[in-house]
Amino acid sequence: MTKKVLITGVGGFIGHHLARKIIETTDWEIVGIDLNDNRVISLLTNPRFTFVKGDIRQHYDWISEQVQNCDTIIPLVAIATPATYVQSPVKVFELDFQANLSIVQDAVRFNKHLIWPSTSEVYGMNTDSTTDPYSSNLVYGPITKSRWIYACAKQMMDRLIVGYGQEQNLKYTIFRPFNWIGTGLDELDSDKPRVVTQFLANIINGKDLELVDGGQQRRCFTDISDGVNALMKIIENTVAVGKIYNIGNPKNDYSVAQLADMMLAMHNPHCVSKTTTTGEKFYGDGYQDMSSRTPDIKNTISELNWNPDVDMQESIQTIINFYINRNQSTSY
Ligand code: UGA
Repeated sequence: MTKKVLITGVGGFIGHHLARKIIETTDWEIVGIDLNDNRVISLLTNPRFTFVKGDIRQHYDWISEQVQNCDTIIPLVAIATPATYVQSPVKVFELDFQANLSIVQDAVRFNKHLIWPSTSEVYGMNTDSTTDPYSSNLVYGPITKSRWIYACAKQMMDRLIVGYGQEQNLKYTIFRPFNWIGTGLDELDSDKPRVVTQFLANIINGKDLELVDGGQQRRCFTDISDGVNALMKIIENTVAVGKIYNIGNPKNDYSVAQLADMMLAMHNPHCVSKTTTTGEKFYGDGYQDMSSRTPDIKNTISELNWNPDVDMQESIQTIINFYINRNQSTSY
Protein backbone atom coordinates (compact mmCIF):
# COMPACT_ATOMS: atom_id res chain seq x y z
CA MET A 1 0.00 0.00 0.00
CA THR A 2 1.24 3.49 -0.84
CA LYS A 3 2.50 5.42 2.13
CA LYS A 4 0.59 8.61 3.04
CA VAL A 5 2.49 11.39 4.74
CA LEU A 6 0.90 14.40 6.45
CA ILE A 7 3.20 17.45 6.51
CA THR A 8 1.99 20.60 8.25
CA GLY A 9 4.11 23.58 7.25
CA VAL A 10 4.75 21.87 3.92
CA GLY A 11 5.50 25.24 2.31
CA GLY A 12 8.24 26.07 4.80
CA PHE A 13 11.98 25.61 4.47
CA ILE A 14 12.18 21.94 5.50
CA GLY A 15 8.65 21.11 4.34
CA HIS A 16 9.01 22.08 0.71
CA HIS A 17 12.38 20.36 0.29
CA LEU A 18 11.02 17.19 1.90
CA ALA A 19 7.85 17.27 -0.20
CA ARG A 20 9.84 17.61 -3.44
CA LYS A 21 12.11 14.72 -2.48
CA ILE A 22 9.13 12.49 -1.68
CA ILE A 23 7.37 13.32 -4.95
CA GLU A 24 10.55 12.89 -7.02
CA THR A 25 11.83 9.65 -5.50
CA THR A 26 8.88 7.64 -4.17
CA ASP A 27 5.30 6.70 -4.97
CA TRP A 28 4.04 8.06 -1.62
CA GLU A 29 1.19 10.54 -1.25
CA ILE A 30 1.51 13.82 0.61
CA VAL A 31 -1.21 15.77 2.37
CA GLY A 32 0.01 19.24 3.28
CA ILE A 33 -1.11 22.51 4.80
CA ASP A 34 0.63 25.88 4.89
CA LEU A 35 -0.17 29.59 5.04
CA ASN A 36 1.83 30.01 1.89
CA ASP A 37 2.00 28.07 -1.37
CA ASN A 38 4.92 29.98 -3.01
CA ARG A 39 7.44 27.22 -2.52
CA VAL A 40 5.14 24.32 -3.48
CA ILE A 41 3.59 25.81 -6.63
CA SER A 42 5.32 23.21 -8.82
CA LEU A 43 3.73 20.39 -6.78
CA LEU A 44 0.16 21.67 -6.76
CA THR A 45 -0.89 19.86 -9.94
CA ASN A 46 0.65 16.55 -8.89
CA PRO A 47 -2.10 14.00 -8.12
CA ARG A 48 -0.04 12.67 -5.19
CA PHE A 49 0.07 16.11 -3.53
CA THR A 50 -3.03 17.35 -1.70
CA PHE A 51 -2.70 20.88 -0.37
CA VAL A 52 -4.76 23.21 1.78
CA LYS A 53 -3.76 26.84 2.10
CA GLY A 54 -4.41 28.04 5.63
CA ASP A 55 -3.46 28.35 9.29
CA ILE A 56 -3.26 25.07 11.24
CA ARG A 57 -5.08 26.84 14.11
CA GLN A 58 -8.15 27.23 11.93
CA HIS A 59 -8.10 23.69 10.54
CA TYR A 60 -7.96 21.40 13.56
CA ASP A 61 -10.85 19.20 12.43
CA TRP A 62 -9.40 18.81 8.94
CA ILE A 63 -5.96 18.01 10.40
CA SER A 64 -7.46 15.47 12.77
CA GLU A 65 -9.14 13.75 9.82
CA GLN A 66 -5.86 13.72 7.90
CA VAL A 67 -3.95 12.26 10.85
CA GLN A 68 -6.50 9.46 10.83
CA ASN A 69 -6.02 8.89 7.07
CA CYS A 70 -2.20 9.13 6.92
CA ASP A 71 0.55 6.76 8.11
CA THR A 72 3.24 9.27 9.00
CA ILE A 73 2.70 12.66 10.66
CA ILE A 74 5.34 15.40 10.36
CA PRO A 75 4.25 18.66 12.06
CA LEU A 76 6.70 21.28 10.78
CA VAL A 77 4.83 24.50 11.64
CA ALA A 78 7.01 26.59 13.95
CA ILE A 79 8.64 29.96 14.43
CA ALA A 80 12.40 29.25 14.19
CA THR A 81 14.12 32.65 14.16
CA PRO A 82 15.96 33.79 17.34
CA ALA A 83 14.88 37.42 16.84
CA THR A 84 11.24 36.32 17.30
CA TYR A 85 12.06 34.29 20.45
CA VAL A 86 13.37 37.50 22.01
CA GLN A 87 10.69 39.89 20.71
CA SER A 88 7.55 37.70 20.87
CA PRO A 89 8.08 34.77 23.27
CA VAL A 90 4.33 34.23 23.78
CA LYS A 91 3.77 33.91 20.04
CA VAL A 92 6.56 31.30 19.90
CA PHE A 93 4.98 29.24 22.71
CA GLU A 94 1.50 29.52 21.21
CA LEU A 95 2.56 28.34 17.79
CA ASP A 96 5.45 25.98 18.47
CA PHE A 97 3.89 24.19 21.45
CA GLN A 98 0.20 24.95 21.85
CA ALA A 99 -0.84 24.79 18.20
CA ASN A 100 1.02 21.50 17.70
CA LEU A 101 -0.25 19.76 20.84
CA SER A 102 -3.50 18.44 19.38
CA ILE A 103 -1.64 17.04 16.35
CA VAL A 104 0.70 15.13 18.66
CA GLN A 105 -2.31 13.88 20.64
CA ASP A 106 -4.12 12.85 17.45
CA ALA A 107 -1.05 10.79 16.49
CA VAL A 108 -1.39 9.03 19.85
CA ARG A 109 -5.15 8.55 19.43
CA PHE A 110 -4.92 7.14 15.90
CA ASN A 111 -1.69 5.17 16.49
CA LYS A 112 0.44 6.88 13.79
CA HIS A 113 4.18 7.34 13.37
CA LEU A 114 4.90 10.88 14.60
CA ILE A 115 8.13 12.43 13.33
CA TRP A 116 8.71 15.46 15.50
CA PRO A 117 11.12 18.32 14.73
CA SER A 118 12.99 19.10 17.92
CA THR A 119 16.02 21.37 17.60
CA SER A 120 19.74 21.66 18.27
CA GLU A 121 18.68 24.54 20.53
CA VAL A 122 17.37 22.15 23.20
CA TYR A 123 21.00 21.56 24.27
CA GLY A 124 21.17 25.28 25.10
CA MET A 125 24.50 26.35 26.62
CA ASN A 126 25.69 22.79 27.19
CA THR A 127 29.50 22.71 26.94
CA ASP A 128 30.05 19.04 25.97
CA SER A 129 32.45 18.77 23.03
CA THR A 130 29.63 17.00 21.17
CA THR A 131 26.00 16.83 22.32
CA ASP A 132 24.35 13.43 22.58
CA PRO A 133 20.56 12.96 22.51
CA TYR A 134 20.63 10.38 25.30
CA SER A 135 23.24 11.76 27.70
CA SER A 136 23.79 15.50 27.26
CA ASN A 137 22.20 17.94 29.70
CA LEU A 138 19.92 20.72 28.47
CA VAL A 139 21.21 24.03 29.86
CA TYR A 140 19.34 27.37 29.75
CA GLY A 141 19.74 30.86 31.24
CA PRO A 142 17.40 32.81 33.53
CA ILE A 143 13.71 33.30 32.68
CA THR A 144 14.34 36.93 31.69
CA LYS A 145 16.42 35.58 28.78
CA SER A 146 13.45 34.86 26.54
CA ARG A 147 15.72 33.47 23.81
CA TRP A 148 15.20 30.09 25.50
CA ILE A 149 11.39 30.00 25.10
CA TYR A 150 11.80 28.13 21.81
CA ALA A 151 14.18 25.57 23.29
CA CYS A 152 11.88 25.16 26.33
CA ALA A 153 8.77 24.73 24.17
CA LYS A 154 10.53 22.14 22.00
CA GLN A 155 11.99 20.40 25.04
CA MET A 156 8.56 20.19 26.69
CA MET A 157 7.07 18.62 23.56
CA ASP A 158 10.04 16.21 23.30
CA ARG A 159 9.41 15.09 26.88
CA LEU A 160 5.67 14.78 26.34
CA ILE A 161 6.18 12.69 23.21
CA VAL A 162 8.59 10.35 24.99
CA GLY A 163 6.00 10.16 27.79
CA TYR A 164 3.27 9.20 25.31
CA GLY A 165 5.64 6.57 23.95
CA GLN A 166 6.20 5.16 27.42
CA GLU A 167 2.59 5.23 28.62
CA GLN A 168 0.47 4.91 25.48
CA ASN A 169 2.82 3.30 22.94
CA LEU A 170 3.10 6.31 20.66
CA LYS A 171 5.35 5.46 17.71
CA TYR A 172 7.59 8.51 17.57
CA THR A 173 10.89 9.70 16.16
CA ILE A 174 12.38 12.95 17.43
CA PHE A 175 14.92 14.63 15.16
CA ARG A 176 17.14 17.58 15.95
CA PRO A 177 18.30 19.65 12.98
CA PHE A 178 21.64 21.42 13.49
CA ASN A 179 21.59 24.68 11.50
CA TRP A 180 20.15 23.27 8.30
CA ILE A 181 20.81 25.68 5.46
CA GLY A 182 19.76 25.73 1.84
CA THR A 183 17.75 27.44 -0.84
CA GLY A 184 14.54 29.01 0.46
CA LEU A 185 15.82 29.19 4.06
CA ASP A 186 14.29 32.61 4.83
CA GLU A 187 13.11 35.54 2.75
CA LEU A 188 15.95 38.04 2.37
CA ASP A 189 13.66 40.97 3.22
CA SER A 190 12.25 39.41 6.38
CA ASP A 191 13.03 40.95 9.76
CA LYS A 192 16.26 39.41 11.10
CA PRO A 193 16.33 36.08 9.27
CA ARG A 194 18.82 33.37 10.22
CA VAL A 195 22.48 34.15 9.84
CA VAL A 196 23.17 32.86 6.30
CA THR A 197 20.20 34.69 4.81
CA GLN A 198 20.87 37.77 6.95
CA PHE A 199 24.46 37.98 5.68
CA LEU A 200 23.34 37.51 2.08
CA ALA A 201 20.70 40.24 2.44
CA ASN A 202 23.39 42.59 3.78
CA ILE A 203 25.77 41.72 0.94
CA ILE A 204 23.08 42.40 -1.67
CA ASN A 205 21.95 45.60 0.05
CA GLY A 206 25.51 46.95 0.42
CA LYS A 207 25.52 46.78 4.23
CA ASP A 208 28.36 45.51 6.42
CA LEU A 209 27.87 42.09 8.00
CA GLU A 210 27.24 42.43 11.72
CA LEU A 211 29.06 39.91 13.89
CA VAL A 212 27.04 39.50 17.06
CA ASP A 213 29.31 39.49 20.14
CA GLY A 214 32.38 39.29 17.91
CA GLY A 215 31.34 36.30 15.80
CA GLN A 216 33.53 33.69 17.52
CA GLN A 217 30.49 31.50 18.32
CA ARG A 218 30.40 28.33 16.21
CA ARG A 219 27.72 26.32 14.46
CA CYS A 220 27.75 23.08 12.47
CA PHE A 221 25.96 24.05 9.27
CA THR A 222 24.12 21.23 7.53
CA ASP A 223 22.99 21.20 3.94
CA ILE A 224 19.22 20.73 3.57
CA SER A 225 19.76 17.83 1.14
CA ASP A 226 21.63 15.91 3.84
CA GLY A 227 18.89 16.73 6.33
CA VAL A 228 16.14 15.60 3.99
CA ASN A 229 18.01 12.36 3.21
CA ALA A 230 18.01 11.57 6.92
CA LEU A 231 14.27 12.32 7.14
CA MET A 232 13.60 9.94 4.24
CA LYS A 233 15.42 7.17 6.13
CA ILE A 234 13.37 7.96 9.25
CA ILE A 235 10.09 7.76 7.32
CA GLU A 236 11.10 4.51 5.61
CA ASN A 237 12.72 2.68 8.46
CA THR A 238 11.02 1.11 11.47
CA VAL A 239 14.34 1.12 13.34
CA ALA A 240 13.73 4.87 13.83
CA VAL A 241 10.63 4.32 15.99
CA GLY A 242 11.19 5.30 19.62
CA LYS A 243 14.48 7.08 18.81
CA ILE A 244 16.00 10.55 19.01
CA TYR A 245 18.46 11.66 16.32
CA ASN A 246 20.77 14.63 15.96
CA ILE A 247 20.90 15.51 12.27
CA GLY A 248 23.90 17.71 11.66
CA ASN A 249 27.25 17.88 9.93
CA PRO A 250 30.16 18.07 12.42
CA LYS A 251 32.58 18.62 9.54
CA ASN A 252 30.96 21.97 8.70
CA ASP A 253 31.94 23.49 12.05
CA TYR A 254 32.54 27.21 11.43
CA SER A 255 32.50 30.37 13.50
CA VAL A 256 30.11 33.11 12.45
CA ALA A 257 33.15 35.27 11.51
CA GLN A 258 34.47 32.46 9.29
CA LEU A 259 31.04 32.15 7.67
CA ALA A 260 31.09 35.91 6.96
CA ASP A 261 34.58 35.66 5.37
CA MET A 262 33.52 32.72 3.23
CA MET A 263 30.41 34.50 1.97
CA LEU A 264 32.28 37.76 1.29
CA ALA A 265 34.91 35.86 -0.68
CA MET A 266 32.20 34.29 -2.84
CA HIS A 267 30.05 37.33 -3.55
CA ASN A 268 30.67 40.94 -2.60
CA PRO A 269 29.55 43.35 -5.35
CA HIS A 270 29.36 46.41 -3.05
CA CYS A 271 32.67 45.67 -1.25
CA VAL A 272 31.07 45.53 2.20
CA SER A 273 33.04 44.33 5.21
CA LYS A 274 32.47 43.05 8.74
CA THR A 275 31.52 45.02 11.81
CA THR A 276 30.73 43.94 15.38
CA THR A 277 27.68 44.46 17.54
CA THR A 278 26.30 43.05 20.79
CA GLY A 279 23.55 40.48 21.20
CA GLU A 280 21.50 42.97 23.25
CA LYS A 281 21.75 45.64 20.56
CA PHE A 282 21.09 43.28 17.67
CA TYR A 283 18.33 41.10 19.16
CA GLY A 284 17.26 42.76 22.45
CA ASP A 285 17.87 42.24 26.19
CA GLY A 286 16.42 38.72 26.23
CA TYR A 287 19.22 37.36 24.01
CA GLN A 288 21.77 34.83 25.15
CA ASP A 289 23.86 32.52 22.96
CA MET A 290 25.90 29.34 23.04
CA SER A 291 29.57 29.41 22.04
CA SER A 292 29.49 26.18 20.07
CA ARG A 293 27.11 23.38 19.15
CA THR A 294 28.45 20.16 17.66
CA PRO A 295 26.19 17.13 17.22
CA ASP A 296 27.14 13.62 18.19
CA ILE A 297 25.69 11.71 15.22
CA LYS A 298 26.90 8.18 16.05
CA ASN A 299 23.42 6.69 16.41
CA THR A 300 22.10 8.59 13.37
CA ILE A 301 24.89 7.12 11.23
CA SER A 302 24.74 3.57 12.52
CA GLU A 303 20.96 3.12 12.80
CA LEU A 304 19.89 5.01 9.69
CA ASN A 305 22.91 4.19 7.52
CA TRP A 306 23.22 7.90 6.80
CA ASN A 307 26.10 10.33 6.54
CA PRO A 308 26.14 14.06 5.78
CA ASP A 309 28.31 14.78 2.76
CA VAL A 310 27.73 18.29 1.38
CA ASP A 311 30.55 20.61 2.42
CA MET A 312 30.10 24.18 3.48
CA GLN A 313 31.55 25.87 0.37
CA GLU A 314 29.22 23.95 -1.92
CA SER A 315 26.20 24.57 0.26
CA ILE A 316 26.81 28.33 0.56
CA GLN A 317 27.54 28.67 -3.16
CA THR A 318 24.23 26.97 -4.01
CA ILE A 319 22.35 29.32 -1.68
CA ILE A 320 24.02 32.45 -3.07
CA ASN A 321 23.32 31.38 -6.68
CA PHE A 322 19.69 30.62 -5.88
CA TYR A 323 18.89 33.98 -4.29
CA ILE A 324 20.85 35.99 -6.85
CA ASN A 325 19.21 34.28 -9.83
CA ARG A 326 15.78 34.55 -8.27
CA ASN A 327 16.16 38.22 -7.55
CA GLN A 328 18.12 39.28 -10.63
CA SER A 329 15.40 41.60 -11.83
CA THR A 330 14.60 42.95 -8.37
CA SER A 331 16.49 45.89 -6.96
CA TYR A 332 17.29 45.78 -3.27
C1 UGA B 1 18.93 28.55 15.22
C2 UGA B 1 17.44 28.81 15.35
O1 UGA B 1 17.08 28.86 16.69
C3 UGA B 1 16.60 27.73 14.72
O2 UGA B 1 16.46 28.03 13.35
C4 UGA B 1 17.06 26.33 14.81
O3 UGA B 1 16.22 25.48 15.55
C5 UGA B 1 18.45 26.13 15.27
O4 UGA B 1 19.27 27.24 15.56
C6 UGA B 1 19.18 25.35 14.20
O5 UGA B 1 19.01 25.67 13.03
O6 UGA B 1 19.93 24.46 14.55
P1 UGA B 1 20.97 30.07 15.74
O7 UGA B 1 21.97 29.13 15.17
O8 UGA B 1 21.44 30.87 16.91
O9 UGA B 1 19.64 29.35 16.14
O10 UGA B 1 20.42 31.08 14.63
P2 UGA B 1 21.08 31.94 13.47
O11 UGA B 1 20.15 33.06 13.22
O12 UGA B 1 21.37 31.08 12.30
O13 UGA B 1 22.41 32.55 14.10
C7 UGA B 1 23.62 31.89 14.19
C8 UGA B 1 24.62 32.77 14.89
O14 UGA B 1 24.90 33.89 14.07
C9 UGA B 1 24.19 33.33 16.24
O15 UGA B 1 25.23 33.24 17.15
C10 UGA B 1 23.87 34.80 15.95
O16 UGA B 1 24.09 35.64 17.05
C11 UGA B 1 24.84 35.09 14.82
N1 UGA B 1 24.42 36.19 13.90
C12 UGA B 1 23.20 36.17 13.29
C13 UGA B 1 25.32 37.22 13.63
O17 UGA B 1 26.44 37.25 14.17
N2 UGA B 1 24.96 38.20 12.74
C14 UGA B 1 23.74 38.20 12.13
O18 UGA B 1 23.48 39.14 11.32
C15 UGA B 1 22.85 37.16 12.40
